[in-house]
Amino acid sequence: MKQITLTGIKPTGQPHIGNYLGMIKPALELAKDYQALYFIADYHALTTVKDKKQLQELTYQVAATWLALGLNPDEVIFYRQSDIPEVFELSWVLSCFTAKGLLNRAHAYKAIVDDNVTAGREEDKNINAGLFTYPVLMAADILLFGTHVVPVGLDQQQHLEITRDVALTFNGNYSNVLTIPEAVIREEVMTIPGIDGRKMSKSYNNVIPIFAPSNQVLKPVKRIVTDSKRPEDPKDPEACHIFSIYRHFADADAVAAKQELYLNGGLAYGAMKQELFELLEATFGKKRDRYNALMENTDALDEILEKGAEKARAIAAPIMAKVRKAVGMRPYV
Ligand code: TRP
Repeated sequence: MKQITLTGIKPTGQPHIGNYLGMIKPALELAKDYQALYFIADYHALTTVKDKKQLQELTYQVAATWLALGLNPDEVIFYRQSDIPEVFELSWVLSCFTAKGLLNRAHAYKAIVDDNVTAGREEDKNINAGLFTYPVLMAADILLFGTHVVPVGLDQQQHLEITRDVALTFNGNYSNVLTIPEAVIREEVMTIPGIDGRKMSKSYNNVIPIFAPSNQVLKPVKRIVTDSKRPEDPKDPEACHIFSIYRHFADADAVAAKQELYLNGGLAYGAMKQELFELLEATFGKKRDRYNALMENTDALDEILEKGAEKARAIAAPIMAKVRKAVGMRPYV
């Protein structure tokens, strides 16, 4: 039996090439060696996305993106979090084994509290209880399936520590019911810059989308920030944001040739941006057609996700039954 790897994708923005390099590509690789469960964390998104249409649209975008990029739903169990009622049942049970202080110290929650305090507002202003208990729901996502390995970005490291802590507390009180998961932290995600050089992130408004129409890809590429060196000036490729993105998509020879050109002089930023754009078109152009076709047939997307949920629930049911029994609840009739 293959070990289980699981990760959640929060549908809060149109997927961009930072998501692709940092999460989607490595996750698709990992799916070769593990039984992968990848899901769209729509109930996590509900802590911030309160527009029904938008939440549905974002969910479909994530689903279509992963499928267009090669996720095979016959191999990967691909589903919506909200299609798995057991997640919410387990979430409650786990919340009874989660120290409130642990949640008080969660970075995501603390950051909003700190903002409120700095701005002279009441501490918990605009914080809903869902935001506060977010890590418990995430622990349920993971523990419900006996997950061994959870690949996440650095920003989720603390959530994984909370998950392990809660699982150990639960196991300590009963017998070893829950599998303790390991986090695989992808630190390199941080080094993929957005068009302004900061980490590529929707919240910085510096992203290059994967499957937007060509002109909406070209626009941010043209806006990548550079210094004012002339083409003939020698330049440090490592300091150039165009190169930092280019190197992830081009083959090794092309990267080496560009490095030379930067160092020896002769590289124009405008031409380099055009090349990056063409490279992105070559990488994603065909897949964009598939993406658009999927987005036009959301019934088919629903069907794929429903099938995934069925498979996921088959794994979840016996584990949830064990948890209920451990805490002293009767089996469902
Ligand atoms: N919290 C994660 C994020 O913001 C998404 C997520 C939800 C997740 N549940 C998960 C990730 C379980 C890994 C495992 O990106």
